[in-house]
Amino acid sequence: MSADARPLTVPDLLAMKAAGRRIVMLTCYDAAFARLLEQADVDVLLVGDSLNQVLAGHETTLSATLDQMIYHGASVRRGARRSLVFVDLPFLTYQISVAEAIRNAGRVLQESGAHGVKLEGGRPMAETVRALVDRGIPVIGHLGLTPQSVHALGGYRVQGRDERTADRLLADAHALEEAGACAIVLELLPSALARRISAALTIPTIGIGAGAGCDGQVLVLHDMLGLNEGFNPKFLKRYAGLGEAVRTAVRSYAAEVRDGRYPGPEHSFE
Ligand code: KIV
Repeated sequence: MSADARPLTVPDLLAMKAAGRRIVMLTCYDAAFARLLEQADVDVLLVGDSLNQVLAGHETTLSATLDQMIYHGASVRRGARRSLVFVDLPFLTYQISVAEAIRNAGRVLQESGAHGVKLEGGRPMAETVRALVDRGIPVIGHLGLTPQSVHALGGYRVQGRDERTADRLLADAHALEEAGACAIVLELLPSALARRISAALTIPTIGIGAGAGCDGQVLVLHDMLGLNEGFNPKFLKRYAGLGEAVRTAVRSYAAEVRDGRYPGPEHSFE
């Protein structure tokens, strides 16, 4: 993206699919990384509720709160001028009633400046997606391994290996498209199923652990940069080893502080 490129819009996501241009999405939780990701041409910054695990150290996403998501969404939005910013609606902020979903998604847009929200679930969520979209709130759906249902699903495992579940996921994807979702994240699906769902829809699919047949890809930023070293699922490709880079830099700093080399005269005021 050049410095004078116009900001991406939600309808651009559909146009990208129609033109066969793959969508690049990464999670992002703060303004500093938002600036870097945008300079590196990332189309969509997802303020995922994975921040509850990655930043806050929890086991699951379940305890993320709406206020936390708004705080991080606003931080990302301040760092991003051209990329689209979507914020995850956390657990129990959209499942209780359509009215609560509208109020909470509306707060995300009003208070963070994000362009839209992401929520998990298929047909049971279609009415909610329709209500949000009808009120001008863009929605990305999320199917397959839906982390807010990790206990019901029995862990973080590939979904849709059997025909019944595969057919249900395809029907869920159609329901989200009909309800007005502008894209769907497909997480941990067999490649053939993700390809089949992607081919059946006019809205783009964004895969994570769902193979190359999706219309775009998303990864958790800290995982792909090597900042979350204990997490090594098959689908993850590490594009950098920032964990080691951080340790090396901090060891140098600590050694220089301890032996008096830092700060030198060039870092000190006369
Ligand atoms: O919360 C998150 O980061 C996500 C992505 C993994 C898609 O939902």
